[in-house]
Amino acid sequence: MVGSRVQLAKAGREYKACCPFHTEKTASFWVSPEKQFYHCFGCGAHGTALRFLMEYDHMAFPEAVEELASRLGLPVPHEGGGGAPMPQDASLYELMARVAQFYAETLKGDKRAQRYLAERGLTTEIMQRFGIGYAPDAWNALLKRFGAGERDRQALGELGLIIERDRAPAREGERHYDRFRDRIMFPIRDSRGRVIAFGGRVIDRGEPKYLNSPETALFHKGRELYGLHETRLARSSLKRLLVVEGYMDVVRLHQAGIAYAVATLGTATTPEHLTRIFRLVREVVFAFDGDRAGRGAAWRALQHALPDAREGREIHFLFLPEGHDPDSLVGAQGREAFEKRLDSALPLSEYLVRELSAQCDIAHADGRARFAEAARPLVYKVPEGVYRELLLARVAEVVGLAPQRLQALWAGGSPPAQAAQAPARPRRGAGRGSLVRQAVVRLIRFPATAGSVTDAERAGIDDCSEAGADVLRALLDDLRERPLKISAQVLERWAAKPGGEHLGRLLEREEVLDDEAAAAVELRAVLVKLAHSVLERRLDALIAKQAATGELSEAELFEFQRLMSKKADRSR
Ligand code: GTP
Ligand code: MN
Repeated sequence: MVGSRVQLAKAGREYKACCPFHTEKTASFWVSPEKQFYHCFGCGAHGTALRFLMEYDHMAFPEAVEELASRLGLPVPHEGGGGAPMPQDASLYELMARVAQFYAETLKGDKRAQRYLAERGLTTEIMQRFGIGYAPDAWNALLKRFGAGERDRQALGELGLIIERDRAPAREGERHYDRFRDRIMFPIRDSRGRVIAFGGRVIDRGEPKYLNSPETALFHKGRELYGLHETRLARSSLKRLLVVEGYMDVVRLHQAGIAYAVATLGTATTPEHLTRIFRLVREVVFAFDGDRAGRGAAWRALQHALPDAREGREIHFLFLPEGHDPDSLVGAQGREAFEKRLDSALPLSEYLVRELSAQCDIAHADGRARFAEAARPLVYKVPEGVYRELLLARVAEVVGLAPQRLQALWAGGSPPAQAAQAPARPRRGAGRGSLVRQAVVRLIRFPATAGSVTDAERAGIDDCSEAGADVLRALLDDLRERPLKISAQVLERWAAKPGGEHLGRLLEREEVLDDEAAAAVELRAVLVKLAHSVLERRLDALIAKQAATGELSEAELFEFQRLMSKKADRSR
């Protein structure tokens, strides 16, 4: 995995390279694929592969895990367990990369497109960094280059790069046409840097000004942030993100040295965007044009951001002067002036109060009452905690009441709808009993089945903490060491041991088991399932810990990797 970022040379069982964390001429950076570990003897940087992805690629933990999982060929683990498979179609990603390459090359040969971008102030360096290209002024440039066979055309169609004609074509081979024609092309990359879609801008005038790829298997626009990958590559330490509206804004800001700008893709900020943002940084500034549309977008962003507001996070709103967008402003005033504005952007609470007071005339009592009513659902969108209390206090101040009094008045009305509680999980294995119970029952009924259990299967339940797991381990170890043939002997030997008093009853209540060979197979299958759930639980616990505390120790990261590899081995 490190090998995909750094030029590695093989040295025995390990690899060495020039350290990506400090400048050096001789290689003192070592990578051990076996141990999934790296170490630099020059600067002392070292860690697990996961740490490498987080530090060097600025991936958030979940994304680093996603990367690791996909390299191990595993579905990605998610908070709360269960894995959602990722779109695995490597050939679609590969085609996308080749198409982006094609557009970039076309730009090199097109004077008009080059002139347009130069007039907009972009340097060649920044165009390369963002992979900007040009789609030729033709109906079939992509088709000719990449759509020779039926399957190729199908892939282009799935990627939203070509469109099928409504009417039957005059000639065979003209059933499709290129979606992007005569446009400046902005490749949209995912967090791993793979091109997943495009935004295309007309040169000069034309409709629509921007044309985006449709939603595809690779591209979900409510998730992606344009420029996030480039932001990661640019920054060694990422403290805040600036969210703007346009492609050009992102590119120009990066060029000006504000290399932490990202854009939503023609949609409002979604909760998914916010989740991604707050995995990476604690501070986000939303920048909006000063016009009416910008203010509307800002208000929607505020409403979406409230559920994510909490102490330790900073959410700010920046309103640009009328007639400017970030692109034009940073062009006119430069990085320093722009960052000064960022530093003095409005905190969420202030923006909320300011906007609502502008809507209600708070100079008068009934205006303040309306203000309070309008603020109420917004305050309750913030999760309970210090931040909500502070926001409540600020609203109360404007209304002219003590916070407790305001809250009491609010509580008097109909309570705001609470988010529906997640339904309780159905009890697993109800009817047949828990996995532990199923294993124990088989062991008592046919004690000889213990002999078929392998050391690895036994070791898999070492860390199992399900109810009764200690009894299962003791029983299994006992029977593997001193085998018995019939149930009565087991019950007799275990009568005085802890848990032994339950064994007889367990056997009576269970379904009739009469096939010893089947019981042995079932026993082993249950042990494997238990081992699997031990592993999943530990992974879940580590993921939950990371989500709650924002960090895992090196030892925990290492354990995480080990568990993931184990899981990969098992699924093979
Ligand atoms: P420039 O005119 O190139 O500076 O673009 P801009 O980024 O300033 O554009 P604008 O502020 O008009 O739009 C901001 C963003 O909204 C763009 O980057 C697009 O993502 C989206 N957008 C703008 N116009 C269109 C359009 O006609 N269709 C679609 N689908 N999206 C658009
Ligand atoms: Mn613009």
